Amino acid sequence: MQFSKTRVFLAISAFAAVAVLGVQVHAETNRVQFPETLDGLVHYTTVRRGDVTEHILTTREAIEAVKQGRPIPNGTHFVLVDHRDGKVYRYFVMQKGEGWGNDYDKDRRTEDWQFQWFWADRSINMDENTSRCQSCHSSRSEENHLYTFDALSAFEGTVIE
Ligand code: HEC
Repeated sequence: MQFSKTRVFLAISAFAAVAVLGVQVHAETNRVQFPETLDGLVHYTTVRRGDVTEHILTTREAIEAVKQGRPIPNGTHFVLVDHRDGKVYRYFVMQKGEGWGNDYDKDRRTEDWQFQWFWADRSINMDENTSRCQSCHSSRSEENHLYTFDALSAFEGTVIE
């Protein structure tokens, strides 16, 4: 009983801290660039959530690297194209670059991956603090910070649904 009260208290404190930080921390641009073109990227999996359809893309080189157990090359983009009502609503992008992890302190760092939210017109959503992206994706640190690592490994040319 005592234990669960403590947990509730901790949860409320954490929530309050996030609420306060949410006001103080400003969104930022970072090193992530929108890919020059999406045409060269491979659409390897689709995730559907209610009315949202997510097409997830990356480079052929990244897919090969994952299959062969090699590090994903610097410069690689992962793009999640979020479609709603048949139109692009936004793009979530992860990009990796040499030493990019050093831009963040150790608690926030997701190796050399950085994250960005782009609207359909490819402008950055300045209301988003990308530490939220990093915090959630850090639970996948064993899989290159990727949620769709299994689909990447299994991809043989047909989009995995
Ligand atoms: C609450 C957890 C959570 C947060 C926050 C989050 N993601 Fe994700 N992300 C996921 C999950 C889960 C997937 C797998 C696709 C799905 O299930 O919708 C994913 C997939 C992705 C992918 C495709 C590559 C992969 O990991 O499989 C990209 C790119 C991505 N997210 C970028 C972002 C960006 C950019 C942000 C912040 C603006 C963000 N994510 C915030 C959970 C999260």
